[in-house]
Amino acid sequence: MSLSTSTKKLIQKINERSHDLDPTTQSNYKNFKVNHTELTLDVSFNSKTIDGLVKYDLTNLTNIDELILDTRALTIKSVIVNGSKVSFKLSNPVPIYGSALIIPLPTATSLKVDIEFQTTDKCTAIQFIQGDTGPYVFSQCQAIHARSLFPCFDTPGVKSPYKFIGKSPTKVTMSGRPQPSNEPNTYYFDQPIPIPSYLVSITSGNLFKAPIGPRSDVYCEKPNLKNCQWEFEKDMENYLQIAESLVFEYEWKRFDSLVLPSSFPYGGMEIPNMTQLTPTLISGDRTQTKVMAHELAHSWSGNLVTNTSWEHFWLNEGWTVYLERRIVGAIGAQEAKLAGKSDEEAEQIGEQIRHFDIIGGWNALVETCETFNPDFTKLVWNLKGQDPDDAFSRIPYEKGFFFLFQLENKVGGKKEFDHFIKYYFEKYRYQSLNTSSFVETLYEFYEPRGKKDVLDTINWDKELFVSGLPEKPYMDTTLADQVYSYGNKWVEYIKTSQNFDNIPFKEEDLDSYQGEQDMLFIEYLVEKFKNLDVPPELIKKFPSIYPTYAASKNGEILSPWNELLIMHGDYQSTDQLVKDFSNWLSVTGRMKYARPGYKVLKNGISLEFAVEQFNKHKEFYHPICRSMIEKDLGLV
Ligand code: BES
Ligand code: ZN
Repeated sequence: MSLSTSTKKLIQKINERSHDLDPTTQSNYKNFKVNHTELTLDVSFNSKTIDGLVKYDLTNLTNIDELILDTRALTIKSVIVNGSKVSFKLSNPVPIYGSALIIPLPTATSLKVDIEFQTTDKCTAIQFIQGDTGPYVFSQCQAIHARSLFPCFDTPGVKSPYKFIGKSPTKVTMSGRPQPSNEPNTYYFDQPIPIPSYLVSITSGNLFKAPIGPRSDVYCEKPNLKNCQWEFEKDMENYLQIAESLVFEYEWKRFDSLVLPSSFPYGGMEIPNMTQLTPTLISGDRTQTKVMAHELAHSWSGNLVTNTSWEHFWLNEGWTVYLERRIVGAIGAQEAKLAGKSDEEAEQIGEQIRHFDIIGGWNALVETCETFNPDFTKLVWNLKGQDPDDAFSRIPYEKGFFFLFQLENKVGGKKEFDHFIKYYFEKYRYQSLNTSSFVETLYEFYEPRGKKDVLDTINWDKELFVSGLPEKPYMDTTLADQVYSYGNKWVEYIKTSQNFDNIPFKEEDLDSYQGEQDMLFIEYLVEKFKNLDVPPELIKKFPSIYPTYAASKNGEILSPWNELLIMHGDYQSTDQLVKDFSNWLSVTGRMKYARPGYKVLKNGISLEFAVEQFNKHKEFYHPICRSMIEKDLGLV
């Protein structure tokens, strides 16, 4: 496909500003092609370690004389190359990135490299815990934790098909399709689609499964199984079919998921064939299945088409949020049609719902741009010497989303953009790409369709490489306005009232709220009250004004609700409300709630109290979450 000269220049300029090599790996990955990987992981609950064997089938592309792999806090036991034992070197550990494993190579293009290893107690990828019904272990490798589970090219720029073998006294799931096994305590999985290291995963525990769709089961420990099934069975297949019509056929065959114990640090993680989910989604009202839609969307954006390094993380998450919101909008339209609306009305309702989520995204983007390290509010990052976990925020999600949303609008709306979606995902499936390849593909698609001028109106430099907010797009505020006007009444009331004896607000005011309007309302008050003199005695009445919020077990409500109260209510550490909230934090390892929760204790009660609570409970948290809270509280 030939591009115009000015486009070629633009692509070249973007390319020059990006790193050619992933700065967060020490491996020499560009010299090799990985044809196949076989990974055996053998779990010991007694020693809380995993013994492993990884067998790489490589092509040496450049006749290089050594192979360098990433490791961190791993014990390497032996290395065999093409049948002969070799003496390897492990470099001194570099902060964040770990120790390079240096393996001398014979002169051969085709290489079989077998490495025996064992994890240590410094492994940041795995957590051994006591599950509800027995011992349990799970891993979380994104972004650069895979290297502490097994020696690898720990960059999303490298992909390989895998065979996985998991050994454990309890049931094992890994990142592939289960295969039959005749050996006790041994589980086989095949992953024929090439995947990067960060999608490698192992979980073992007393797991059971229940169907939630024709190609989907949910796994978890027995006591929670029925609740998990109920939460997802209505939406699962529907999500799959909508996503398929948006992009193309789901290629991974089955879409199963696993609800983890409560220390799981994320909302969800898109492990191929076995999406991992936080148990905080099981709220008994199906209000949080959107996270499932998000992880499902990663089956295309991220898992089939992957960012080539974490500097281009927006390609994974921005695209996924874009698809997630399209799915959520389509479900809304579908439901409106079932309720008897015309096609046109239903489409409009679907758009209103999508736009409601988009507004939430915009608010998060504004908040993050105001408070986060400006280097990491750029769409494309420079991660040289940095820990990708430190760069992580809502930015790649929302700035990525708004970038794609802008493109959708520029090229003429959803229908026009749909053609590009299919073209892009088909072009890059099984591959990894960077931002300049994305822009190139965009021009490649739209130049012949007469839309070059439209794309040329975009200030590429600002969009890709400058910190802070992009231009605010048009958003349909129908659903958000209902919330804002009610919230504004509160603000007026507080500004103008002399006393708070007859409060003109009650729970029934919110009866018509649907979906996430509740959440937006509380978040709106959190924002507005920041700049308002709110009397603590008024705040203390909130639980009796809105008793349903006060009793909510749903983290999406509980988290902003307690922020609102504790930040303004002049509560003491001995108050029941603070005790209840601290207790909830002590069993909630999802970082979306735990990190702001400790900040609320710190800013609303005291640093001493926050630290005391954290120290009491820190063993509960996953290593990634623990280290982030330590940073947040200034303990490291
Ligand atoms: N892949 C991410 C989780 C992740 C990101 C793990 C970076 C490690 C490093 C996952 O798809 C995700 O985005 N989860 C979100 C949920 C979502 C609905 C926005 C989360 O965990 O909050
Ligand atoms: Zn995601």
